[in-house]
Amino acid sequence: MQVIIKENYDEMSKEAAQIIRDAIHLKPNLVLGLATGSTPVGTYKELIRMYEEGELDFSKVVTFNLDEYVGLPPNHDQSYHYFMHDKLFNHININPANVHIPSGIAKDFAKYCQWYEDEIKKAGGIDLQVLGIGSDGHIGFNEPGTSLASRTSLVTLTEETIRDNSRFFEKEEDVPRFAITMGVGTIMEAKCCLLLANGEKKADPVSVLVEGPITSQVTASALQMHPNAIVIVDKAAASKLKRVDYYKWAYENRPRF
Ligand code: PGA
Repeated sequence: MQVIIKENYDEMSKEAAQIIRDAIHLKPNLVLGLATGSTPVGTYKELIRMYEEGELDFSKVVTFNLDEYVGLPPNHDQSYHYFMHDKLFNHININPANVHIPSGIAKDFAKYCQWYEDEIKKAGGIDLQVLGIGSDGHIGFNEPGTSLASRTSLVTLTEETIRDNSRFFEKEEDVPRFAITMGVGTIMEAKCCLLLANGEKKADPVSVLVEGPITSQVTASALQMHPNAIVIVDKAAASKLKRVDYYKWAYENRPRF
């Protein structure tokens, strides 16, 4: 696991956008896994800037989003479908046919989840998966206790996640109780995982993700078993890590051959 510690949110976002840009330059038809939440918004802004300045072409990029709330139609302003269009897709030259976001209003969720898994396989698998981390340590909506081998499925959100996400809704009761999410096993099959975390609230889950035991109680910790995981954190999110000096040293002295 490569741990990159940045001074602040802006620096974290720029670093993440550069990694995504380099990946698209290497493979213009990159299969890119995307995340929602506050964390990646700065990265998406930076990708939009790169597109506007002619540094990036998304016309062949294929995307798969991690998750969606159950019960919210795509045009609901708190759906992740809406979020992705508002924060990224409406501002770049992505081909709408290449965009995949789980549906929160599928009729048969078991069938739908299998279909989503099959679509990822048909696309050749995810090359680069962007991830946030919940204050309860989740990746996607894989809440504490979820099997680290889980596949795309319908899940129940924790009360902590509902509380965390209530900031976007009028009242807590409006936050959906269920979501459809790629599983930890699905995420682990991405060729590269890029997890971002900022702020003090993420310091505890980040410390388990990077230095704690691998446990289904913090599903992000599964990334310790991933052969190519990059974790970019700001100083606040890194504040409970024990080996900060080494991570900085290893980053500054990373092999460039
Ligand atoms: P946040 O959410 O980026 O809004 O903190 C992260 C997550 O729940 O994965």
